[in-house]
Amino acid sequence: MTTTLISGATVVNADGRQPADILICDGKIAALAEPGTVTDADEVIAADGQFALPGVIDVHVHFRDPGMTHKEDWLTGSQAAALGGVTTVFDMPNTVPPVDTVDHFRLKAAEAEAKCIVDYGIYGLLGEHNLDQLDALADAGVIGFKLFLGNTTGDLPCPSDGAVLEGFEILARSGLRCSIHAENSPILFWRQNRMKAAGRTDPYAHLAARTDVVAVEALTRSAVLAEWTGARIHIVHESCAASIPYIQWFKSRGVDMTVETLPQYLYLSAEEMLEPGGHILRMNPPIRQKSHQEPLWSALLDGTIDMLSTDHAPHAVDEKDGDTIWDMACGFPGVQTSLPLMLHAVSQGRMTLEDIARVMSAAPARAFGLFGRKGVLRVGADADIALVDPSAAHQISAAGLASRGKLTPYDGWTVKGNVRRTLVRGQTVAMDGKVVADPGCGQMVRPQMPPAAPRNTATTTEAIQSPDNRPW
Ligand code: DOR
Ligand code: ZN
Repeated sequence: MTTTLISGATVVNADGRQPADILICDGKIAALAEPGTVTDADEVIAADGQFALPGVIDVHVHFRDPGMTHKEDWLTGSQAAALGGVTTVFDMPNTVPPVDTVDHFRLKAAEAEAKCIVDYGIYGLLGEHNLDQLDALADAGVIGFKLFLGNTTGDLPCPSDGAVLEGFEILARSGLRCSIHAENSPILFWRQNRMKAAGRTDPYAHLAARTDVVAVEALTRSAVLAEWTGARIHIVHESCAASIPYIQWFKSRGVDMTVETLPQYLYLSAEEMLEPGGHILRMNPPIRQKSHQEPLWSALLDGTIDMLSTDHAPHAVDEKDGDTIWDMACGFPGVQTSLPLMLHAVSQGRMTLEDIARVMSAAPARAFGLFGRKGVLRVGADADIALVDPSAAHQISAAGLASRGKLTPYDGWTVKGNVRRTLVRGQTVAMDGKVVADPGCGQMVRPQMPPAAPRNTATTTEAIQSPDNRPW
């Protein structure tokens, strides 16, 4: 039995904080003790004046491995996570090959097992071509599924609505959550082609192709199909103030729907795309006008938007450049900078450390069936901990990113709030800005979702294929 004691810190959870020494045995929290009452441990970490947050769970990263490892791999991506206080990541399936079969899932899992230094979940793809693979992927241990309704990196085709409905019917039976890139592909391609034909190549053309209705339409369509089938859904990278009343309405109807936003939608605006270096900001969905920021902050803090993730989307530096906006790769790294940016928001009085514990740990753990094991600092939970100093200034720099994608729109920003140490199941993986873990110490997490609740089962696409099926 190995024991570790973290002394002198204030333990923060979504529902409050307390000064407590944290005793860790074999990777789990064994006690939250009155300060000074435990003195005996194999390793003692003095954390006086620091705050212990539940490790961040980032449900949306692209570690690009296998297939695009010149952009990132499981080691560099997870090193960036560890430096940013992130202890669990969920990797998206738009890799090469995509995670559309159990074999491809195992291929990715082997790469992660060899390299990743934080815990991880792997998404399966919900595509039109692999509906017959979804149950097997669920059984193999995916954390959930990803549906690309909007086109983005990887050019995975958007399934037809019929296939999406059938996919949701299948997922509703498994109970696993489906994360959705909610943009309407036919509309965005139509508008993009119209602008290309008209010769538009400026940065705003990207936003114009994907104007608000592109997001709102795909979100509402997804929610209607989720309500009909009983599938659990998660809307990734919500960027748009116009979506907020729809989210509230669907949630009030009882749709099992969670939503994330990203630091870049809270801190950055399309207006900045015109500034030098502003082309970095091209991503999907687009960073919108400044007027979207405050409504998104409010929705995150009032719980309409459940959580914060990053859409960590690294590319080689030259891939981010191009002659026109249409040639520039979409996305940029974020997993290392999200917690410092949110600590900065705490220093500005925008949010509390408890809010951070809620939107970056507890809510993601609840949505994906990990809560209790992860997402909270309490006896019996995994000792996944970010030790932070909210008063220390920290300068973000592109050169300081562990990611292979050495570009960040926050280059040169000084934020107040620093991650001092990150522990995954009791093991220190990063401290004082340095990675200290060996490749492969991360473990795969598997979801334990509440019982599935499928609806309208008499009329599913499978059921109606039987000639005996006459529900009318
Ligand atoms: O900008 C983006 N980049 N948005 C996405 O949805 C995917 C991501 C990527 O994989 O590069
Ligand atoms: Zn993404």
